[in-house]
Amino acid sequence: MRALRYPLIGTAVLLLVAPVPVRAGNRGIIGGQAVKVADVPWTVALASRERFGPVRSGQFCGGALVSRTTVVTAAHCLSREVLGVEMSEAKDLRVIVGRDDLRGGAGKEIALKDAWVNPAFNPETNGGDVAVLTLAEPVTDKAPIAMAKEGDAAYKPGTEAGVYGWGDMFGNGAYSPTLRGALVYVMEDGMCRQAYPGGPEGVYQPSTMLCAGLPRGGRDACQGDSGGPLVARGRLVGLVSWGSGCAQAGRPGVYTRVSAVAALVWAHSVDPAPGAAPPAAPPPAQPPVAPPVRPPAPSVAPSASPQVAPPAPGAGKRPGRRPRWA
Ligand code: ARG
Repeated sequence: MRALRYPLIGTAVLLLVAPVPVRAGNRGIIGGQAVKVADVPWTVALASRERFGPVRSGQFCGGALVSRTTVVTAAHCLSREVLGVEMSEAKDLRVIVGRDDLRGGAGKEIALKDAWVNPAFNPETNGGDVAVLTLAEPVTDKAPIAMAKEGDAAYKPGTEAGVYGWGDMFGNGAYSPTLRGALVYVMEDGMCRQAYPGGPEGVYQPSTMLCAGLPRGGRDACQGDSGGPLVARGRLVGLVSWGSGCAQAGRPGVYTRVSAVAALVWAHSVDPAPGAAPPAAPPPAQPPVAPPVRPPAPSVAPSASPQVAPPAPGAGKRPGRRPRWA
């Protein structure tokens, strides 16, 4: 039933054949509304025109900018199931920043310098659904979003959270050309467990996942929103990961718990975690070595104490550099 879990490819192909007309006043992410990317500038689209066609800029997943050169997304977005080929064969993967309407050319498309897909991602449970993309050039005009840390109050059940993306608006393959968002609520682990005790879609694991939605359903992320941000109290708390259908009562959306993977993300980012020790200053250039000059023998004993060479600048203990790639 794997093909049913990520029906994006088939839908994308369908979209190429019969583009979905844009309906004015439509609802979704599901049950959401239009959002300006300027208001959520860390929301990015993942795209490959080669794999998904030129319609909607080739968008197929979402992501979140967490530093100038680091985007987090879902591991399953980069799987063969979604891409149709191994990631290494998808040559034109791009991150799109600052583009509300995927039919236009606003904002910027940035190539990837590197991509790390969590090797511990488990497609059976959906546990560990995170990947780190390193951008070929830094984003300097959009603020990244802070990742929630362990114990963040934003994880308290009942907290309001926004989820953003260009995915399916009705659960029928009608992908949105424009960015949309929906307000949902962080749910209690007990409810999430009850909804997903272990089934073909995945298994709810509170240590690495959280679930969010409305008890009566009606608002949710859906296909094509994967990897995109769930934000509460101004922090990135989740990444769209999985669910059973979309927006159904008793079937909340399940998200990668960002606090559980933040350390992994920084370990695979070229930018240091905020608050981490700043990198040691580069050693100053050595002063040119002057040729030894034999001073003329003084005719009288010097009155001043002999000159002592000052210590080489930068000598002494320097803090070790943080490894850039763990
Ligand atoms: N796996 C889907 C994707 O690849 C996301 C599903 C989210 N489902 C939900 N009910 N929240 O886009």
